[in-house]
Amino acid sequence: MSAQNLLSEIDLRSREFRVDPYPIYDLLRQYAPVVFRDELNMWVVSRYADVTAILRDRRFGRTIDHVLTREQRGLPPKPQYRRAFDMLSENSMFDKEPPDHTRLRGLVHKAFTPRRVENLREAVQSTADMLLDEVQSKGSMDVLADFAVPLPVTVIAELLGVPEEERGPLRNWSQTIVAMYELAPTADQERAAIQAATEFTEYLHKLAAQRRQQPKDDLMTALVEAEEAGDRLSEDELIATCILLLNAGHEATVNVIGNGLYALFRNPDQLRLLQENPSLNTSAVEELLRYDTPVQLFRRFALEDVLFGDVTFRQGQEIALLFGSANRDPDRFPNPDAVDISRSENPHIAFSLGVHYCLGAPLARMELQIAFATLMRRFPDLVLAQEPQYRDSVVIRGLESLQVNF
Ligand code: HEM
Repeated sequence: MSAQNLLSEIDLRSREFRVDPYPIYDLLRQYAPVVFRDELNMWVVSRYADVTAILRDRRFGRTIDHVLTREQRGLPPKPQYRRAFDMLSENSMFDKEPPDHTRLRGLVHKAFTPRRVENLREAVQSTADMLLDEVQSKGSMDVLADFAVPLPVTVIAELLGVPEEERGPLRNWSQTIVAMYELAPTADQERAAIQAATEFTEYLHKLAAQRRQQPKDDLMTALVEAEEAGDRLSEDELIATCILLLNAGHEATVNVIGNGLYALFRNPDQLRLLQENPSLNTSAVEELLRYDTPVQLFRRFALEDVLFGDVTFRQGQEIALLFGSANRDPDRFPNPDAVDISRSENPHIAFSLGVHYCLGAPLARMELQIAFATLMRRFPDLVLAQEPQYRDSVVIRGLESLQVNF
């Protein structure tokens, strides 16, 4: 079958694509690097050079609300029943463009300092050790449920200042809200996300009120107090920021631990190399972020008509940037389908680029380095117990579970 026929048979919403997108990325990069896909009603961009060019180009944005109203775009007003959910995107930096983005990111940056991240190092290490202490005597665990999920949630809760006894619902709230970033959320997913947004918002209002009365040494207090040029975060912005930090801060981290460890199991020489050479831990983490990128796709809007190579993105059209594909582009990474934990030049874009570059990258790197180093040190005989399944999602790439013996 010709490449064009193969491409016309591909459905980017299919189960086949969700389970293993990489062969399809290869085809897209080779034969249709910038292509409009009807099934998504979006442009799809798959080469590293193009994805990074668009991320750096201010003619594209995560939102277009500041340029065209919904009415101008022929869309109905946002429905009232979704308020609790829409409030989050309307008030967080994630879905804003400059100058609103610059203002919000600046205020959060003031509170989320390198010192605050560094101060978490001991808590990250002791949480990792405590989680492994709990399973040590069993000789087996589900790396996701027992380690990869609780570690980042605990760290973000610690960072924000959510008391231990109140952390129970955080993971569920966050996972339910994040499901809305999939390509086509179902009505059930939407209902659940609105419910989670409502409950989470109510909880954070209470926590913020407590911190206003009784400041503590945590990020919630710092956000309440953050001020720049007489400007502060509004209550809605404060809530939306806390929820963004929890969502952004753990879903991807969880899946780098899961996907990364699974990649090492499938490449036993690399697993052994890492076990025998702890000094490779830092470059191993970068390679695992690249190799099976946890957030495979981010969207941008064309804020104006843009001539891009030989196509024109029309104002308001959406563009799916395939981060997972860019990170496997042979024009940028020699031997891209190999896991090479010693890879020295590794400009992957797992944390994006440009004005939306991941605000939590230093914290994520610290957590991942501690997670892999601790797993390798504590369980030198780690083996895969059962072939895992990938979750049924396109944007967030992660495993259902990862059963191991040690
Ligand atoms: C391995 C872990 C992580 C990965 C792979 C990751 C990835 C990303 C990516 C790709 C973006 C940019 C999206 C875009 O360009 O449209 C982003 C944004 C962001 N991330 Fe992360 N992230 C991780 C961990 C974290 C952590 C731990 C935090 C904070 C606690 C965090 C907070 C944020 C925030 C606040 C933004 C929005 C920045 C903005 O819009 O200006 N992330 N992240």
